[in-house]
Amino acid sequence: MTGFADVPRVEALIEGIDRFTATPGQGTTRLTYSAEYAGARDFVIEQMLQAGLSVRQDAIGNVFGRIEGTQPDLAPILVGSHLDSVPNGGRFDGPAGVVAGLETAFLFRDRGLVPVRPIEVVALIEEEGARFGGGLMGSRLLTGQLDASSLPDLRDDDGISAAEAMAAFGLDPKQAGRAALAPGAIHAFLELHIEQGPTLEAEGRDVAIVDRIVGLAQLKVTVRGRAGHAGTTPMDARRDALTGAVVILSQLPDLARQVGRGAVLTVGKLEVLPGGANVIPDLVTFTVDLRAPDEADVVRLIEMTRAAVDRAAGNGLTCDVEQQLFAPPTPMSGKIHAALVGQAEALGLSHRTMVSGAGHDSMIMARVAPTGLVFVPSRGGISHAPEEWTDYAQLARGIDVIFATICQMSREGQAG
Ligand code: HGY
Ligand code: MN
Ligand code: MN
Repeated sequence: MTGFADVPRVEALIEGIDRFTATPGQGTTRLTYSAEYAGARDFVIEQMLQAGLSVRQDAIGNVFGRIEGTQPDLAPILVGSHLDSVPNGGRFDGPAGVVAGLETAFLFRDRGLVPVRPIEVVALIEEEGARFGGGLMGSRLLTGQLDASSLPDLRDDDGISAAEAMAAFGLDPKQAGRAALAPGAIHAFLELHIEQGPTLEAEGRDVAIVDRIVGLAQLKVTVRGRAGHAGTTPMDARRDALTGAVVILSQLPDLARQVGRGAVLTVGKLEVLPGGANVIPDLVTFTVDLRAPDEADVVRLIEMTRAAVDRAAGNGLTCDVEQQLFAPPTPMSGKIHAALVGQAEALGLSHRTMVSGAGHDSMIMARVAPTGLVFVPSRGGISHAPEEWTDYAQLARGIDVIFATICQMSREGQAG
């Protein structure tokens, strides 16, 4: 059975967004509020207007494109994902979900469909946290799970605060709090995302319907010592922040192995200052990304990491741990899961249920509205790298499931 989505159009949408990267030829780098982000946002707005949507940008830069329903007062179904990326990432992580929303809108337009319940395509900011740390920022601000008063304190690697970056992007950070939606403002949230793992490809399946997302935490560890001359400072007179950090770092991977049960731990960013080859480092910061299917294991990993950091303090070194994000394991809506499975079946697609080891805006939206998450295969399971790839026909099949489910749900009026 042929599907609904227009594969060449889906490809053009993904490639159109991917033109906006700070690292052409070396993957996708599109940090929130950057010039590249503005370009991608403008492209998405253009496409929303072409699809006949009414478009708005909220106070923090999330973009919404609305298909009005015959009952406009009903809370809308949101469909989308994030538009920002990790450094040197791939073209599908985030945009696959935004394009699923755009293609759904084009299909409604092309088929002259008018939903009972309004539908809104959404492109969210700062899901990755690659610029301001933590992550899931656009969806957390939207749903009142992050207070806008924290924006002046969130700083990027150049020391620019989220508030300053917003102002440079043309937004008024003093108005950021207005982005938070009232309870009940969203009827449901649907997200299509690449799997970012090997399972669907290995099993030869078309899609996965996610039933749960693992719990995750992001920590920022700071070790402070004293700068000094590499040549004239005796070894036992040093307060070498890097030596202290290495003591901590060498213990961390084993903490996840000790916890087991699917726990994982990653140190992805490390900065050594002042960064002179002949200077004893006095400030080292690094991130610790912790995940586990069970919340108690995430909490235990945080505690074990903090203990390892505390043990490194002393002998002139001081240490600090900042918790930038904590998101407990999150179940998806059973009702939406069943609807997505039903549509995958009706489309003759091979599917399976899956736990997501990656975090997604869905885990934030699920706290305020029934949420569903669909995965499409990732070649070799690779993601967060330029080699990230999903065939456009595969992506289209996932979009078919989203489109068919939204058609079903948008016919639901008050009772839905
Ligand atoms: O880190 C994650 O799981 C997601 O890519 N933000
Ligand atoms: Mn993502
Ligand atoms: Mn990602």
